[in-house]
Amino acid sequence: PEAPLKVAVTGAAGQIGYSLLFRLASGSLLGADRPIELRLLEIEPALKALEGVVMELDDCAFPGLAGVQIGSDPRKIFDGVNLALLVGARPRGPGMERSELLSANGAIFTEQGKALNDVAADDVRIGVTGNPANTNALIALSNAPDIPKERFSALTRLDHNRAISQLAQKTGAPVTDITHMTIWGNHSATQYPDLFHAEVGGRNAAEVVDDQDWIENTFIPTVAKRGAAIIDARGSSSAASAANATIDAARDWLLGSAEGDWVSMAVVSDGSYGVPEGLVSSFPVTTKHGEWTIVSGLEIDDFSRGRIDASTAELAEERDAVVELGLI
Ligand code: NAI
Repeated sequence: PEAPLKVAVTGAAGQIGYSLLFRLASGSLLGADRPIELRLLEIEPALKALEGVVMELDDCAFPGLAGVQIGSDPRKIFDGVNLALLVGARPRGPGMERSELLSANGAIFTEQGKALNDVAADDVRIGVTGNPANTNALIALSNAPDIPKERFSALTRLDHNRAISQLAQKTGAPVTDITHMTIWGNHSATQYPDLFHAEVGGRNAAEVVDDQDWIENTFIPTVAKRGAAIIDARGSSSAASAANATIDAARDWLLGSAEGDWVSMAVVSDGSYGVPEGLVSSFPVTTKHGEWTIVSGLEIDDFSRGRIDASTAELAEERDAVVELGLI
């Protein structure tokens, strides 16, 4: 039998953690046959709450859960991990400036990047969910010089899944008929969910929809602002769906994306599609055996060009801000 996969989760006592840990432990990541060991990182004041969550994990008697460790020292928790899901981040408080948010998160992702660099397993993969996810991933990878940059990604899979669901509802097709969806750019309101390469039952989605006004004024803003709509309705931000997307992204990364389709992942740009090299930006990617490859050769029309450029300009601004703060 294979050794358990060591999976670190940060912010484990938070909302997303409360959904994510149980899905991981029940086998949603690699199947029920491959045991996993959980390494849960929290800040000191949240460790007591995390102990309560671990009591509940115990009470599930998950057959595939080989062990759980908790703590507040990333160098201990990340020791030997194969997968690190960086979920914990500083939320934007009332009246908090963007630069304050970036520096609070900068401190977290600088420390965690260094710790991963020094103690994670040689095959480690790192997925960043905590916001601002793309720039947090950039900070972490910049502080982990010995880990290949390709081992880091930021989560745009929730946006991807939201876009699939909205298109399925619009066309009446089942979600399984929707393929080749792409989120480009930043996990933020500037993201660009692209229907010009997506397909519905093998037909071009923009042609099936045949309604540019709906694409521009309903579809794109609904997907891009879905997070705020959830907060309005639920009184707190998306958690179960974010946990689900975190698992979808990690599973596809480790096991491979579906044959004949692609997924959206924010990864370090090699300059593809005019996205400045080095930015962590969402692309259409295929994955296999823990490696991702940006889908090449897609034609980008003027409308898509403008949207991709706007979102990557925002990413460049975020990068410049963290450079100015001395974080990278
Ligand atoms: P939450 O506030 O309920 O939980 C965050 C947890 O992180 C807290 O328990 C906190 O103590 C912990 N934490 C803070 N600093 C930490 C550190 N240095 N080390 C370890 N843990 C630390 O937040 P929630 O709802 O679980 O969301 C987590 C993050 O995910 C937020 O940044 C949120 O904006 C982001 N998010 C991202 C999505 C995406 O699609 N990329 C979707 C939804 C949320």
